[in-house]
Amino acid sequence: MASNQILVTGSAGFVGSTVAERLAARGDRVLGLDCFDPYYSVAWKRRTAAAQRAQFGIETLETDVRDRDALRRLFESRRFDAVVHLAALAGIRASVARPERYVEVDLNGTQNVLDAARAGGCDHVVFASTSSVYGDAARAPFVEDDASDRPLQPYAAAKRGAEILGYAYHRLYGLRFTALRLFSVYGPRNRPDMMAYRIAESIERGTEIEVFDGGQGLWRDWTFVDDVADGFVRAVDVPLGYEIINLGRGEPIELRAFIEGLETVAGGRARVRSVPKPACDMQHTHADITKARVLLGYQPRTGIREGSAALWRWYRDHTLEGAASLAPARPTLSAA
Ligand SMILES: NC(=O)c1ccc[n+]([C@@H]2O[C@H](COP(=O)([O-])OP(=O)(O)OC[C@H]3O[C@@H](n4cnc5c(N)ncnc54)[C@H](O)[C@@H]3O)[C@@H](O)[C@H]2O)c1
Repeated sequence: MASNQILVTGSAGFVGSTVAERLAARGDRVLGLDCFDPYYSVAWKRRTAAAQRAQFGIETLETDVRDRDALRRLFESRRFDAVVHLAALAGIRASVARPERYVEVDLNGTQNVLDAARAGGCDHVVFASTSSVYGDAARAPFVEDDASDRPLQPYAAAKRGAEILGYAYHRLYGLRFTALRLFSVYGPRNRPDMMAYRIAESIERGTEIEVFDGGQGLWRDWTFVDDVADGFVRAVDVPLGYEIINLGRGEPIELRAFIEGLETVAGGRARVRSVPKPACDMQHTHADITKARVLLGYQPRTGIREGSAALWRWYRDHTLEGAASLAPARPTLSAA
C-alpha cells in the first residue's frame, strides 16, 4: 500500500477530484488545493471538497496558484513526495475572451508551483496538459514529439508554455516533470461546460445545445475519467525525468456518434442546433498512447458505451439540483 504525501492542485474539479480520491483510496496522504474558481458552480466544488473530507480524509487548502507566497509557505511547512498539478482554467473559448487570465493561472501559476516545489525540496511534478497543444497541424494519431508550436487559442499556448517551463526546471534543478496530455475527458463529475455534460443536460431537460457542424467531421478521443485518473496514479509512481505523455483512449469517435451513443443509453434525444465550428477549436483529436503504455503501463479500459452509461447514471443520480444554473455565464460547449 502506497503512503506518499501528495499535493493535488485543482482537487475540487472534475479530473482533480477523481485523481485525489484514487490516490487517497490506495493509502496516499493527500492534501487538496483549490481556489474554488467561479468558472462554474463554486457550490458544486465546495460540496466535492466536503465529501472528500468526509469520505477520504482529504483536506482542501483554499489557495490560489497565483499566490506565490502562499505556495512557498505551504512547501516550507510540509513535505511532499509529489505534486499533481491540475489547477487551471480549462475553457478553450473562454481563453480567447480572457487570454490574460489563462496566462496568469495556467502558465504563471504553474511556474509558482514549480518554484515552491523546488524551494521546498519536492522534486516530482505531474502536470495536466492537453491535446489542444497539437493544434490543427498534427497528423493523426498525435505523437508526443509532433510539432506543438501552432496553438489555436491562448489556453493551449499557456499549457504548452508550462510544459516547456517544466523542462527548464528539470535541466536546472533536476526536477522530475511528467506532463500528461489529456484528451476530452468525460464521466462522473463532468465539467458542466463540456460537451458530454451538455448532451446529458439536453436529453434530461430539453435544453438546446450548439454543436459544431452538427457533430459531423469533428472527431474526439473521448477518454473516461477513471482511466485518466489511473494514468495520473501511474505517473506518480514512476518518476521519469522529463517526459510528455499522451493520456487518451486512442480511438476517436465522431461527435455525432458520441451524441447518439449517449442518447441510446439515456433513452432520450438531445436538442441539437448546428453552428459553424469556430477557428479556435480543433477538427480532430487522436492520441497515440504507445508511450503511456510503455512508460506507465497505462491501458484505458472503459469503452464509450460503458463510459457513457456511467456518465448518464451519475448525471441522473448526482447532479446537484441547480448546479448548472449556479454556474456563471458559461461559454458555449467545449469538446476538448
Ligand atoms: N477535462 C478535460 O477534458 C481536460 C482536457 C485536457 C486537459 N485538461 C486539464 O486537466 C486539468 C483539470 O481539468 P478539469 O476538466 O478537471 O477542470 P476543472 O475546472 O473541473 O478543474 C480545475 C480546478 O482548478 C481550480 N482552479 C482554477 N484556477 C485556480 C487557481 N488560480 N488556483 C487554484 N485552483 C484553481 C478550479 O477551481 C477547479 O476546481 C486542467 O489542468 C485542464 O487544463 C482537462
